Amino acid sequence: MTEDAKVTPWEVTGILGDTDYSKIADRFGAKIIDRAMKERIASYTGDLHPFLRYDVFFAHRDLDLILDAYSRGEGFYLYTGRGPSGKMHLGHLLPFMFTRWLQEKFNVDLIIQITDDEKFLFRDLNSGDLNRYTSDNILDILSLGFNPERTHIMVDTLNSGLLYNNAIKVARHINVSLAKSVFGFDDSDNVGKYFFTSIQAVPSFILSEILGRPIRCLIPYAIDQDPHFKVARDVMPKIGYEKPSSIISKFIPSLKGSGKMSSSDTTTGIYLDDDRKTVRKKLMKYAFSGGRDTADEQRKYGANPDIDFSFNVFRLLENDPSVVSRIYDEYRSGQLLSGEMKAMTADRISNLLEGLSINREKVKNNISDYMFSTDRFR
Ligand code: TRP
Repeated sequence: MTEDAKVTPWEVTGILGDTDYSKIADRFGAKIIDRAMKERIASYTGDLHPFLRYDVFFAHRDLDLILDAYSRGEGFYLYTGRGPSGKMHLGHLLPFMFTRWLQEKFNVDLIIQITDDEKFLFRDLNSGDLNRYTSDNILDILSLGFNPERTHIMVDTLNSGLLYNNAIKVARHINVSLAKSVFGFDDSDNVGKYFFTSIQAVPSFILSEILGRPIRCLIPYAIDQDPHFKVARDVMPKIGYEKPSSIISKFIPSLKGSGKMSSSDTTTGIYLDDDRKTVRKKLMKYAFSGGRDTADEQRKYGANPDIDFSFNVFRLLENDPSVVSRIYDEYRSGQLLSGEMKAMTADRISNLLEGLSINREKVKNNISDYMFSTDRFR
């Protein structure tokens, strides 16, 4: 890992390669999802999602306990979330695509927390911006097609009573020095930040609280969120709940091939509202290529698909592994040129985005069906 690589819930910098990710998982105390775990998952789901096959979701905490509970017929629920700080890009979508797949395969409830309070405390956003991003992001998320009966969107400021009454139980067990060391806060950070992690912990036990019986929770998230759930796992047994389990992803890289796709640099990210022309232009112009400098050299020596942004995204959007290995071979051998690889991936991305924007229009009128309410569980 480069010396300056840094991963906290509010800051991710530096260059992240595969070995860096396993080092971070190790440092955080999460386990790598190995072949045996993948096989166990596939034994319930039938197939493996490409994000598991290609190790985008690469680490976990106590995933075995979730699968044990499931196989005993006890069930579990899913919890994930989004901080509404701006427009969503492809990288933000990844955990939700995967969560949708999990919900479909296991047919379980899902709580999606929208942390508008977090973005108020941590970013310079006013309530107008927050409201706009909140409704916009909710539509983007729902366009992926979650099960309306089992999906529960919890906007923090709209569910403040329930969240506050449960967050205080957590907050009592987190002292300032722990918050400082886990999140890197210092004396200049506002007091709201110190409290916030308690709010993010609540959905990980709220269903047990509502149902009045223990039910396990599985949280899919990108690795920067891990500090929150490490803290939550420490606190849960002290307040009478099971530790939540997690399944943890890498970031989708920026087009330039390293680091994380970021919202602050529009040239390195693909936004959900980018049209076909824009997506193609961004890939052609900015996507890091494992190809050679000239078509002649490429034909002669072939490309290195492993470091190629377009190939790496292509395989995440292709369900059939035999298609992926055929494209790999063709690219590697020089049969396929970089421009062709980029065009193919641009098309895949645009097909996905166009499908989502059609769904977006459809869910627009049904958002209230998805909103969190305790009555929906009773
Ligand atoms: N803090 C997350 C963000 O800034 C949002 C979030 C809340 C979340 N709860 C979560 C993400 C659970 C993953 C899992 O985006």
